[in-house]
Amino acid sequence: MDYNALIQNRRSARQFTNEKVTDAVCAELESYYRGGCQKLVPQISTELRFFGSQSRQALERAAGYNEFLVGAPQYLVLLSEKAEHLYENAGFMMEDLVLKLEDMGLGSCWLTFTDSKAIKDALGIDSPLEVAAVAAFGYPQKARKNMRFNVLSMTNVDMAAKRHYFDPKRPVGDMVFMDAWGETKGRDEYIGFYDDMLWEAFFAASMSPSYLNRQAYGFVIAGGEIVLVSRPDDYNTEIDGNLSLGVVMLHFAAAASAWAGQVTWKLGTDAKQIPLPEGYRVVASCSL
Ligand SMILES: Cc1cc2nc3c(=O)[nH]c(=O)nc-3n(C[C@H](O)[C@H](O)[C@H](O)COP(=O)(O)O)c2cc1C
Repeated sequence: MDYNALIQNRRSARQFTNEKVTDAVCAELESYYRGGCQKLVPQISTELRFFGSQSRQALERAAGYNEFLVGAPQYLVLLSEKAEHLYENAGFMMEDLVLKLEDMGLGSCWLTFTDSKAIKDALGIDSPLEVAAVAAFGYPQKARKNMRFNVLSMTNVDMAAKRHYFDPKRPVGDMVFMDAWGETKGRDEYIGFYDDMLWEAFFAASMSPSYLNRQAYGFVIAGGEIVLVSRPDDYNTEIDGNLSLGVVMLHFAAAASAWAGQVTWKLGTDAKQIPLPEGYRVVASCSL
């Protein structure tokens, strides 16, 4: 897959045509999941389940912003064994599936949830695994680029037709620092600009979908390593915050691997530790 192109074209789709998603399409996605899907923590067991549009009503109160569920021909549920970093891993995997869907000409939208059991009950999932990530997908309506999904807060989400192409993203310059959080000296010389590969990997990270578009993270380049830092954020829940961290790790690694080869994130205490302001924490680090 041409990750850079897919990442730059992807937008959350919240309106779909009536075109049926065929069994062959679902089978292609499932086969990608079984074969090529990128994993952050390969030893965590997962399972992918598909649910048709008839599941919308059942999901209505269990998933989506403020119980606003995106109506779609298909829903994807990623189940995971309970393990350390299960949501970061699920975010990484589900975002790879989202980009595979984009590659197949389909549109998708992540769906928030807080209670694994509520989703399992709603969909009749009988499994010891936890619900780890949920997304809707189908063929997006062409008008989607004119729809602005205005996420003001969890209780104030407004979908309005406006001339607006995408939810605004924080620029690379606001999320990448040199040696210490907030330090910009020497950064631009190090990462280059538009056509430079490291800049492109950070740009891919800045284009990540995130819960409520919060983008509650940033990077510090320290001792030749790229350190992913989580910023304190009052709106993020633990599940959505960690899923969003998995998504941003996938975007960075997928873009960087085009020239740096396989990128491996070291997580938690295995990551390079750096001093940070209160409330911030090191999530992961990698070297290229
Ligand atoms: C973990 C997670 C949960 C999300 N939950 C929802 C949701 O319930 N409903 C929704 O419409 N969008 C949801 N989104 C999509 C974000 O709102 C969207 O990614 C963000 O507004 C940026 O827009 P973009 O995806 O078009 O770049 C979620 C995204 C993530 C990563």
